[in-house]
Amino acid sequence: MPLRLGDIVPNFTQTSTTGEINFYEWAGESWVILFSHPKDFTPVCTTELGEVARLKPEFDKRNVKALALSVDDVESHFGWTKDIEETQGVTLNYPILADPDRRVSDLYDMIHPNANDTLTVRSVFIIDPNKKLRLTLTYPASTGRNFDELLRVIDSLQLTDNYSVATPANWKDGDDCVIVPLIKDPKEIKQKFPKGYKEVKPYLRMTPQPNK
Ligand code: BEZ
Repeated sequence: MPLRLGDIVPNFTQTSTTGEINFYEWAGESWVILFSHPKDFTPVCTTELGEVARLKPEFDKRNVKALALSVDDVESHFGWTKDIEETQGVTLNYPILADPDRRVSDLYDMIHPNANDTLTVRSVFIIDPNKKLRLTLTYPASTGRNFDELLRVIDSLQLTDNYSVATPANWKDGDDCVIVPLIKDPKEIKQKFPKGYKEVKPYLRMTPQPNK
């Protein structure tokens, strides 16, 4: 059964470029972006892992830890890391899980046999501090992911958790947000959204981004 949004993700222990990782212990109280790539020493993957290293300050700001994975072994990851650092001008500042026995790939359903029966697809799992799955994304091997979009989703998820707002289509940081439909009591709305709100329809209420 594939993992679905809202599920508690399974724990695992697996080797990585920074030593053995027990996922729950390693994640601690942080959010996690767990993402798989098809293969080491391939071009699109090289740019992706470099980009995640470059974005580390942005992930840190949001209390997010990055964790990469492929079915290559740890020696391969170490060799490839040098290439990533050389070609992308970064230091690899997060672990890459080595999953040659497919323990994690199978647990998280990252191998899609009709796409490729031996390699992981480009999966992304965003997991909150309660180990609850909050986003899944699957991209084909030929398309590099947009990690700015993933930061945008993390911002949206954290706004929802902290301020009871959702984010509309194409929202970007600083834009107005949507008051979640669950909140109906006008007194509660006034108290929760002191910057005010505009009722476009009873179900569509816009408010300035609360944390700005
Ligand atoms: C790449 O990273 O460029 C790639 C990996 C596997 C298949 C196709 C492209």
